[in-house]
Amino acid sequence: MADYDLILEGGTVATASDTFDADVGIRGGRIAALGTKLGSAARTIDARGMLVLPGGVDAHCHIEQESSTLLMTADDYYSGSVSAAFGGTTTFVPFAAQHKGQSLRDVVRVAHERAGPKSVIDYAFHLIVSDPSEQVMGQELPALIMDGYTSFKVYMTYEKLKIDDAQMLDVLTLAREYGAMTMVHAENNDVINWISERLLSRGYTAPKYHAISHNPIAESEASRRAIDLARLIDAPLLIVHVSTPEAAASILEARNRGLKVYGETCPQYLFLTADDLDKEGMEGAKFCCSPPPRDKAAQEAIWLGLKNGTFQVFSSDHAPYRFDETGKLNAGPNPTFKKIANGVPGLEVRLPLLFSEGVGTGRLTLNEFVALTSTNAAKLYGLHPRKGTIAVGADADIAVWDPTWKRTITHSLLHDNVDYTPYEGREVTGWPRLVLSRGRVLVEGETLHAERGSGKFLDRVPVPPKDPAATLNTPLDPAANFGARLL
Ligand code: URP
Ligand code: ZN
Ligand code: ZN
Repeated sequence: MADYDLILEGGTVATASDTFDADVGIRGGRIAALGTKLGSAARTIDARGMLVLPGGVDAHCHIEQESSTLLMTADDYYSGSVSAAFGGTTTFVPFAAQHKGQSLRDVVRVAHERAGPKSVIDYAFHLIVSDPSEQVMGQELPALIMDGYTSFKVYMTYEKLKIDDAQMLDVLTLAREYGAMTMVHAENNDVINWISERLLSRGYTAPKYHAISHNPIAESEASRRAIDLARLIDAPLLIVHVSTPEAAASILEARNRGLKVYGETCPQYLFLTADDLDKEGMEGAKFCCSPPPRDKAAQEAIWLGLKNGTFQVFSSDHAPYRFDETGKLNAGPNPTFKKIANGVPGLEVRLPLLFSEGVGTGRLTLNEFVALTSTNAAKLYGLHPRKGTIAVGADADIAVWDPTWKRTITHSLLHDNVDYTPYEGREVTGWPRLVLSRGRVLVEGETLHAERGSGKFLDRVPVPPKDPAATLNTPLDPAANFGARLL
């Protein structure tokens, strides 16, 4: 019998901290050895000239999920996971989204029914909590956290999803007590509505007004407020899809004060601008997402934030809607900017875009790239060290990455179920040649090997503070005492 099921031979392994030449021996779906002359293997793959990277962990994507207006995404768990795999992502964490009045337990059951038979990559779920009722806060959410659903998103905007500040404080208090992570969509709903009403009443309805109505101040104000609410409770908080320099600065400042505040950004804030929403006719609808892409100066600030530790996580926020009546144009062929389905696709191109424009230009090191696209998300969401690294004992989730592979992104190259890509025509260098999930070959070149439903649900464990009072930021922030007394 061979020593290993598979050996990847002669590649350069990169983790979030180190880069070294080593063969990777895989047995029973896990990494069993790193070194040279490892022994015999049922299969050996030549990885010379390749980077051997931990598979990507996409911690923000909307898959087979109804939006706040109950519009279904274009990708289900099959097309979404296949698309992820072709781009080097081997774990994703989509949302089990509660709409007002729904039981969270039911929402989680439905998410499992959707993902289980279809996903080809491993997955967990974040919850979306839009209705923190007594039943949800008193029973369902604590029980779900203890069952391993240890992260959830709340919204400060979207009429049908948003919670108010008092509800946010309740959610943060519960998250702190039970050891969960709160993610927040931070935009000021009233500011957006106030601007939108003025624009619409003057007849300004085109897609470009989406970016104008979602003013950067709506985001920076809500981000600061969310940070302050988390500070009051001394609860961890992760601000998702950050697009503005000011919001980024608030996150960095909070962490420099010792707060457990984290940041996520996404490809659309590095590669798109508000000008993309100003394309001919309804074309701009393809680029409408919330928060919207900003300007070139904001792009530079977001790049800086990836480098200077503002952002821990680079996710896709893949929110796939086709450019037709099932998606972007579900309200008719000429909807006002308020009625365009929000979101852009990006699951498959997340790693190639950041590698090409980040590592390829010297803006990021290879290790920073790995941290941002894989390791940090695995750590923050309780999946590390099983996921997000190349180490003995970790799952053999690996992207064998060709750093010289030049490709032009076009819609036909990609495997999602959207009929366009916002990155059409963009040239990138670097793409995975081979993708492994728990040692199984998922993708080899242009060929998919994985079977529907072969991805596994990932159990997570909450990490409540051992002594809640002892973890407070009292020396830094007397206000946190107030949070402690309320617990
Ligand atoms: O526009 C976006 N990002 N749509 C997806 C929903 C969300 O808020 O992340
Ligand atoms: Zn959001
Ligand atoms: Zn999202």
